Order: sequence, then C-alpha cells, then structure tokens
Amino acid sequence: MTSTVSAQPAPDTRSAAPERPGGLPPRPHGVRLDEVARSFDSPQGRHDVLRGLDVELGSGEILAVVGPSGCGKSTLLRLVAGLDRPSGGEIRIGATAIRGTDERTAVAFQEPRLLPWRTLEQNVALGLPRGTGKREGRERVRHLLQLVGLEHAAAQRPREVSGGMAQRTSLARALARSPEVLLLDEPFGALDALTRLRMQDLLLEIHAAEPTTVVVVTHDVEEALYLADRVLLLRTLREAGPDAGSLVRTVDVPGSRPRDRADRALAALRVELLAGLGVQAHQPTPTAATPTASTPTAATPTASTPTAATITENLS
Ligand SMILES: Nc1ncnc2c1ncn2[C@@H]1O[C@H](COP(=O)(O)OP(=O)(O)OP(=O)(O)O)[C@@H](O)[C@H]1O
Ligand SMILES: [Mg+2]
Repeated sequence: MTSTVSAQPAPDTRSAAPERPGGLPPRPHGVRLDEVARSFDSPQGRHDVLRGLDVELGSGEILAVVGPSGCGKSTLLRLVAGLDRPSGGEIRIGATAIRGTDERTAVAFQEPRLLPWRTLEQNVALGLPRGTGKREGRERVRHLLQLVGLEHAAAQRPREVSGGMAQRTSLARALARSPEVLLLDEPFGALDALTRLRMQDLLLEIHAAEPTTVVVVTHDVEEALYLADRVLLLRTLREAGPDAGSLVRTVDVPGSRPRDRADRALAALRVELLAGLGVQAHQPTPTAATPTASTPTAATPTASTPTAATITENLS
C-alpha cells in the first residue's frame, strides 16, 4: 500500500502546463471546483457530506482546508485526487475535468504508509511516474532525499527511522512525479510539535523550489494560516439547514511567505477561525513588558485590520 496515488496518463499532461522563460519549471495548473456535492446512500437514507462547493485555486497556490471532524475534508481531497466522484458538480485541473486518478496529482495521507520491506530510497522511487528511466529515476530520488534531508538514511528501512523521517519519506514519494497538484491530508498530524513546525517549513521550502498547487487538510488553524494563501472553513452539513452549503468562510491570509509565526494579524485570524470551529480563544493583548507593545502595528485588531477585511462570510 502506498500513500501516493498512481494514475493513468491524462490527456492534459504536465507538458501542457504553461511554459515559463529562463529555464524555470512550468507553472502548475490550478484547480477549479464548480458546485461540487457528495452524498452517500445508506439504509438510513441519503447523507449529504459536501454541498455547493465553489472554489478556484490558482496555479501554485496553497489552500488549507479546516473544519470539524466529519465535515468532509478527506472526502473533498479524495474527489480532487480522482479517487472518488462527486455526486454533483465538476472538478477541473487546468482545463481538464477529473474523471479518475491523474498523473498530475499526488496525495500524501496522515500515516506515511511506507512499504516496510523496502528502503527509504525504494519507497520514494515508488512515486516516480511510470516509464521513468533508471538513471533519471535514481537522480530524481537522490535529489528528493536531499531536499527532505534524508540522503544519509536512503538505505534504511521504515522500522529503523523516526516518525518524522518516515513522514519526510512519504512527502518525497508524493513529490517524485513532480505533481502539479499536491494533496495533503493532515500530513503532519502524527508528529510531535517541534517536528511538525520543521515539516511545515520544509513543505514551504519545497514549494518554493518546485512550485506546485497544494491543498492541505489540517486540524491545526495556526498551521493553516502559516502555510496557506487561503483557508477554507467547512461546516458539517448534518448540523446545518437543508439549504446550507459546505463552505462557511474563505480567509485570504495577508502577507507573503515565509510568514512570521508571531504575526498579530495571523493571531487575529486564528481567533476568528477557532470561533468558526466553535472554540473561544483570546488574542494575547500586548503589555508594556512584551516586546510587541512598542510596535505600532501590533495593536489589537479593529474593524480596519485585515481580519475583518479578508474574511468572506458565506453563511447561508
Ligand atoms: N465511502 C463512504 N461511505 C459512506 N460514508 C462516507 C464515506 N466516506 C466518507 N463518509 C462519511 O462522510 C463524512 C465525512 O467524512 P470525511 O472522512 O471526509 O470527514 P473529515 O472532515 O475528513 O473528518 P476528520 O477530520 O475526522 O478526518 C463522514 O460522516 C463519513 O462517515
Ligand atoms: Mg479526514
């Protein structure tokens, strides 16, 4: 079993991605969701999980998806990965509607799902596109292991490495095909806090080196705001009215990456997103003793801060 989705070649392949001058890698395609819905039938009746999802994801954008457990985040990721079909609406990568798993897409799940009898190097190689030449594949795998800081552990087996190393191997495997769209389902959920922060930075370094359009599902609101250009907050339809859509809010994260984890605009957005998840949190108020107190821009948010301006209410 592998966490990287292998797929049939699609008509609109990476070679069709928009070219860029100066030897830069081609821009990855964006993703578009039009009125996407997914429901499941059971003996108890129809269970609507996703409804009315309209999202346009720009080339190279990082989108984070947050929402309560069971609201359909993994379902959404499976739809974009082509592992499942929407009950309504359509999903496109570039100009092509998704009809099944797709060579341009790779998925990494919460558990690394490495093959225990293979070395880390061999596990990463599993993510290479079919037909990759031996030498080319070896070079690509070596490059990826270097990128995730695992060259020294290439010959080790999963049971011989730490959870963070296994997770980095899983990420390298997902990147092996140079996906245009990288889908991450709580990729750092099982890691300790420090390794998690390092993995977030690693993901951003990789994204800067090899631009990819990313959808990352996370339960961690801070992680979402640190990584993403935009955050989608989803609701559980079971707890909403019959006409409510899945999308509660879209948050445009201000500023550019790399972000300052202590940025007060992010802290304000964090409070708002947590409130959207039903968790009351307080933004720390700067005091004379704290270094931020002397910073004029570090004021408590008001109606004129990016917080209010950047949140699109979509409550129905
Ligand atoms: N194949 C399926 N058949 C029936 N119901 C399903 C199927 N897949 C998902 N569901 C239901 O859809 C709902 C959303 O599941 P999903 O796994 O997408 O939630 P989630 O937001 O990822 O939750 P979590 O944060 O706990 O991972 C759940 O109620 C789940 O039982
Ligand atoms: Mg899930």
